[in-house]
Amino acid sequence: MEREIYFDNSATTQVHPDVADLMHETMIRNYGNPSSLHKKGVQAEQAVSHARKIIAGALEVSPEEIYFTSGGTESNNTAIKGIVHAYKSRGNHIITSNVEHPSVLNVFDHLEELGFRITYLRVKENGVIDMEELKEVLCSDTILVSLMHVNNEVGAVQPVQEVGEVLKGYHKKVFFHVDAVQSFGKLPVFPAKWGVDLLSVSGHKIHGPKGIGILYVKKGTRLKPLVEGGGQEKSVRSGTENVPGIVGLGKAVEIAVKDRDAHAKKMDAIRETLASRIKEQVADCRINSNFDGLGAPHILNISFPGTRSEVLLHYLEQDGIYISSGSACSAKKGKLSHVLTAMHLEEEEMEGSLRFSFSYMNDLEEVMPVVESVTKAVKELRALTGK
Ligand SMILES: Cc1ncc(COP(=O)(O)O)c(C=O)c1O
Repeated sequence: MEREIYFDNSATTQVHPDVADLMHETMIRNYGNPSSLHKKGVQAEQAVSHARKIIAGALEVSPEEIYFTSGGTESNNTAIKGIVHAYKSRGNHIITSNVEHPSVLNVFDHLEELGFRITYLRVKENGVIDMEELKEVLCSDTILVSLMHVNNEVGAVQPVQEVGEVLKGYHKKVFFHVDAVQSFGKLPVFPAKWGVDLLSVSGHKIHGPKGIGILYVKKGTRLKPLVEGGGQEKSVRSGTENVPGIVGLGKAVEIAVKDRDAHAKKMDAIRETLASRIKEQVADCRINSNFDGLGAPHILNISFPGTRSEVLLHYLEQDGIYISSGSACSAKKGKLSHVLTAMHLEEEEMEGSLRFSFSYMNDLEEVMPVVESVTKAVKELRALTGK
């Protein structure tokens, strides 16, 4: 078999074999509708309940606070639109940052068209927001703050715990939503402890199936649902439950959380080694990810000025190496990354930026072939273009 090195785990991950086995078994044997009153329905409902309990345990919240959605995008949409439409009588101002995933930024654009006032927090050169700016922009009209925990393009870690503290101490209730799609399974994520009211997680980023996600909603929080129907998921998300997806997600969460710290250590070693070896070979590259506690263990973004990321990506592909140019969501649009723009990179640095992203299924032995391939590709491309 041809060699395959998959360093694109922030785009998506390979389904864990135990997850796939359990989903297969569920599809074949436990195919009832959880709403049916007979035994097959009860069995399916028990499988969903079991997964809900595993997930609630991992987040240290109660199972009644866990809702299943079709993924991170739907969780983000449900959380943000659900809150602003349920609580708009309390205020018109909502806050996010300018480095969010499109499933947050585009929702905010839409809400602006509907008349909401928006503040986009800026980030510093390390991709992290400034807490002082947040404190300055909070006002009596603010009803929601929505921030990502880990940035999907560069891995910058936002101080969500600190934000939760600030909002807890504020004189009026401001809801706090966290997009934890890139952090859950890699970093500790404890919404209840951190003063987070709503939190999004996606199955396919943690070796679970695609098309399934989690929304944590703190007890007592009202949400205007996006999808109306038969009232499943306590009417927050109608539609017959994706039982195999939910069961698979439960298994993926169990595996991800059990050895989370050991996995993070392994990914961080891969990240550090790859960064330092590439820097040795291509001295003028620019590392766009943090190594000071403000960087996630699984994401490394590097710029190679004088190259084009899409071309490098296809060079590497010929060597069986899979990576990304920026985020998968924006990679096909051909415009410069809004995250790297917000971090004030030069145009040339943005054009030649690559994202390597790791999982616990990767190994340190995979690093050197990638270093060799990247070095060769950068040199060849620069020779071709005379840069
Ligand atoms: C930070 C972040 N939020 C949300 C999403 C969307 O998740 P999904 O693909 O499950 O819709 C992604 C996916 O790349 C992401 O990286």
